[in-house]
Amino acid sequence: MVTSNRSRVVVIGTGSVGSAVASAIVQQGLCNELVLINHNPDKAKGLAMDLADGLEFLGRFVTIRPGSWADCQCADVVIVTAGPKPKPGETRMQELGAAIDIVDPILRHIADSGFDGILLMVSNPVDVLSWFAWKRTGLPREQVLGSGAALDTARMKTIIGELTHLDPRLVSGYVIGEHGDSQFVPWSTVSFIGKSFAQYLEDNRSRYPGVTLAGIEESTRRRGLDIKGLRGGTSYGIAATIAGLVRTILWNERSVVSISTLVDGEYEYGERDVFLSLPVALDGNGVGDFVDLHLSGDELSRFHASAAVVREHCALIAD
Ligand code: LAC
Repeated sequence: MVTSNRSRVVVIGTGSVGSAVASAIVQQGLCNELVLINHNPDKAKGLAMDLADGLEFLGRFVTIRPGSWADCQCADVVIVTAGPKPKPGETRMQELGAAIDIVDPILRHIADSGFDGILLMVSNPVDVLSWFAWKRTGLPREQVLGSGAALDTARMKTIIGELTHLDPRLVSGYVIGEHGDSQFVPWSTVSFIGKSFAQYLEDNRSRYPGVTLAGIEESTRRRGLDIKGLRGGTSYGIAATIAGLVRTILWNERSVVSISTLVDGEYEYGERDVFLSLPVALDGNGVGDFVDLHLSGDELSRFHASAAVVREHCALIAD
């Protein structure tokens, strides 16, 4: 439970994602102290200096410094962003081998530090690595989560916002499953300006020729790869997403977000021992209650298919 009014966040990895995450946290003044760790200490030191140079202009003072594994011990949130450099065209799952070599020693250091806060995994493939992090650190399930489909959910809302020229925050609903190719939108649960989004689309058919739910879902799924194709990788969308999750945790907001969490027999989901994204309550204690989405038969089949993909990759790294 986050209780002290002095909050510490540790960001591990200061590449493009870690740097953008650190910047978003500082810009939003989410914690008292931000500690940066990189396998090359100069990178962490340089980023800390660069971010600190903007403090004069920010609304809230944040102590920003490079750190070491010992800093994890008293951290409220540790965020793991480290991973291999993205290769063009490579899917998140194809990065697994290289990612595990980088992330495994990091998790051992975190566990050895005595860390007992909330571990937020960002490195890809995030569902497999979150499961691995939960096993490796021995932390309670509530305290280990992956950013998962929180970003895909935001993307789905952005796409609907751009389509309708209305505020994306008017969309209520979630992308669930793997943060990858098998993710999907359970449309039966998505609403927009007071009705189901499917109904909205039906009511406005003539305004959106050719637009389908399947098309929006496909654009959502592809968006990460599309951005990677255009600029080599993603950083700001994931950074905003992580900042949102950190705020929910540190400010004890009890939001409901679709994040990668241990699914272990909840409701009708019918899955165990696998990390996948589903909407759950999130606050200073970490992951709380699940939402029973009452998925349709077809949606449940897609959820099981997504679980099978993630489980198959977990089996490759199980020790
Ligand atoms: C993305 C990365 C974070 O989807 O997987 O942008």
